[in-house]
Amino acid sequence: MVLIKNKSAIEKMHIAGKLLAQILHEVKSHVVKGATTLQIDNFIENRMKDLGLKAECKGYAGYKYATCISLNDVIVHGVPSDKIVLKSGDFVKIDVVGSYKNYCVDMARFFFVGNVGPVVKKIAQVSQNALDKAIELVVEGNRLSDISFGIQKEVEKEGFNVIRKFAGHGIGKDMHEEPDIPNYGKAGCGPVLREGMTLAIEPMISERSYLVEVMEDGWTAKTADGGLAGHVEDTVLVTNNGPQILTRI
Ligand code: MF3
Ligand code: CO
Repeated sequence: MVLIKNKSAIEKMHIAGKLLAQILHEVKSHVVKGATTLQIDNFIENRMKDLGLKAECKGYAGYKYATCISLNDVIVHGVPSDKIVLKSGDFVKIDVVGSYKNYCVDMARFFFVGNVGPVVKKIAQVSQNALDKAIELVVEGNRLSDISFGIQKEVEKEGFNVIRKFAGHGIGKDMHEEPDIPNYGKAGCGPVLREGMTLAIEPMISERSYLVEVMEDGWTAKTADGGLAGHVEDTVLVTNNGPQILTRI
C-alpha cells in the first residue's frame, strides 16, 4: 500500500529536504581535486548534525557512512573512503538520506571535478533531464508507471540505457516504502498517484550496458562494462496542484 502523508508529516519532510538541499549545495566547494570521498562524507555528516538531521544511511543494513559517493562507472552505493582521491575529470554522484523528527527525504546530486569529458557532461545532463521529466509526471491521477516510462523514454532517446537492478521508491517514516519506482516500463500501469504520496525518484543510467556488478565490499555498484553512469534524485510530493519537490532550497 502506498501511504498518504498528513500535513504534519509533509512539514517534517519539507524541513528535512530544505536542510539537506542546503548541505548538498554547500558541499560543492569540497568536491575538488585531492579531496577524498571520506572527507566529503565527513563534511556532510557534520553539517547534518549541525542542522538537526539524522543520517539515515548510517547503520542501514550495516552501512557505516552518512552518504554514498559514486564516481564515474559507479552507479550508486559507492562507499566513502580515504583511499578514493578525487582527480580532474571525475564525475561524482553524492546520495544522502536525512530525517527530521523521524521523517526521511532522499536526494542525490552530481558534481564535476575540474574539466570533465563530453560524455560525462552528456550523461549528467540526460540524467537531470530524465529526473525533470519524471517530476513533471508526478500529477494526481497519473499512474505510477507513467513516471517509469517517461524516464526510460528520455534516456533511450539520447542513446543511453536505464539500470534495471535498482529503482526509486516511496519514502516517509521509512527510507524505502512502497511503491517501487523502476526507471523503465510501459505507461499506464500501477497505482494511481494521489495527493499526499511522497516519492523518491532516481534515474540511474548508463552509457552502454545496463548490467551491474557489485564489488566485494557488498555495496559499490558499477556498470559491468565499465561505461559511465549517471544518477540524480529528488523526493517529490504529489499535490492537487502538481508536483512539489521537497529536496530543494
Ligand atoms: N539513497 C539510497 C537509496 O535510494 C540508499 C543507500 S543505501 C544505504 O536507496 F545503505 F546507504 F543507506
Ligand atoms: Co533513493
